[in-house]
Amino acid sequence: MPACHAGGHEFESRTHRFRNTSREVLRIFFANYSLFIFVSLYFFVLLHGIRKIIIQSINKKMKQTILVTGGTGFIGSHTTVELQQAGYEVVIIDNLANSNLNVLDGIEKITGIRPAFEQVDCCDMPALENVFKKYPKIEGIIHFAASKAVGESVEKPLMYYRNNLVSLINLLELMPKYDVKGIIFSSSCTVYGQPSQENLPVTENAPVQKAMSPYGNTKQINEEIIHDYIHSGAPIKSVILRYFNPIGAHPTALIGELPNGVPMNLIPFVTQTAMGIRKQLKIFGNDYNTPDKTCIRDYIYVVDLAKAHVKAMERVLDKPDTDAVEIFNIGTGKGLSTLEVVEGFEKATGVKVNWTYAPRREGDIEQVWGNVDKANKVLGWKAETPTEEVLKSAWKWQQKLREDGIQ
Ligand code: UD1
Repeated sequence: MPACHAGGHEFESRTHRFRNTSREVLRIFFANYSLFIFVSLYFFVLLHGIRKIIIQSINKKMKQTILVTGGTGFIGSHTTVELQQAGYEVVIIDNLANSNLNVLDGIEKITGIRPAFEQVDCCDMPALENVFKKYPKIEGIIHFAASKAVGESVEKPLMYYRNNLVSLINLLELMPKYDVKGIIFSSSCTVYGQPSQENLPVTENAPVQKAMSPYGNTKQINEEIIHDYIHSGAPIKSVILRYFNPIGAHPTALIGELPNGVPMNLIPFVTQTAMGIRKQLKIFGNDYNTPDKTCIRDYIYVVDLAKAHVKAMERVLDKPDTDAVEIFNIGTGKGLSTLEVVEGFEKATGVKVNWTYAPRREGDIEQVWGNVDKANKVLGWKAETPTEEVLKSAWKWQQKLREDGIQ
């Protein structure tokens, strides 16, 4: 074979091999590349879907605007914090009768968001309606604004009936007009009066007993107003929360309870006595039919209580199949005696409280604590904070008030 022919043949075969190899490389490349593209596309679509779901759920909450009446008050401010942290937008209205604007600073420091605020009395219908006009995105209401001192209500019953009933009626009347779907109402275990021994811990089905004060009566009447209005076909839903005894303060001590003058409730009196603002705490009654002869209550941490409102709001706005009115006890499910609370405070804080026994306080119930199974199961909520921590938070708040020169 001539050399040139042999070289040509080799050249051809090399070219052939080269073509084959190139084809093979291209085939492998495209096969893998398509696999790569396919896998990338798959992940892209998957991630896009997940992202969409996350954004939708965030936006859903972001978009929901909640009106919190009495939002600068004790429970209202803690609930505003929890709502904001859950992604809701909050509009507070308050007449500042029993709170002040500094509370908004506290809320802002905790959440980084200053809630919208309008100084409005819920009894002032034109002013209240303007709030709904100004904030047309309000979808839910949490109604805290109310007068709440039991003794004062006995002295000024008409003031209590006017404030507490008219404000709720005004809100209910405006809800359908401004397409507000749900209202959470702050009720109280006071509606149970003194439950019989066999009804302790008290469930939501225990009989409502004749109220012992106009304040307590306003809670009962307001519950009935909500039932009757919804029964009449009003296009709204409601969750009624019956609180036991709310105590403590936010762990940051940036918000807490600000009693007006001499405190009537146990914990502020304990912390003020520990601070030396009050000389001596009186434990009202040591002749009750309880193990240590002092009264028993179900003390619920205000932050846990605030979280129950977020759950209730989700239920009212996002769960279409629930009953139009639902009632939940919000407590710990555990009774503590007054003496146990005082001794628990001393142990938790290491601070001594000067206390003495005194005669029973008129109108006090001997013992009440809640069965909270329904809230645990249906709302998916549970009081989580140990009492020791709760009592410490109350003391930290009292110390913060002293630092700020408030008390
Ligand atoms: C009252 C209201 C309740 C409301 C709660 C918080 C009634 C019957 N109770 O509950 O609806 O949710 O306030 O605003 O309407 N005590 C002392 N010394 C004191 C203060 C209190 O011994 O200086 C005792 C009381 O006798 C009671 C317990 O501590 O046994 C709790 O009292 P308090 O904090 O006033 O709440 P309640 O009266 O239970």
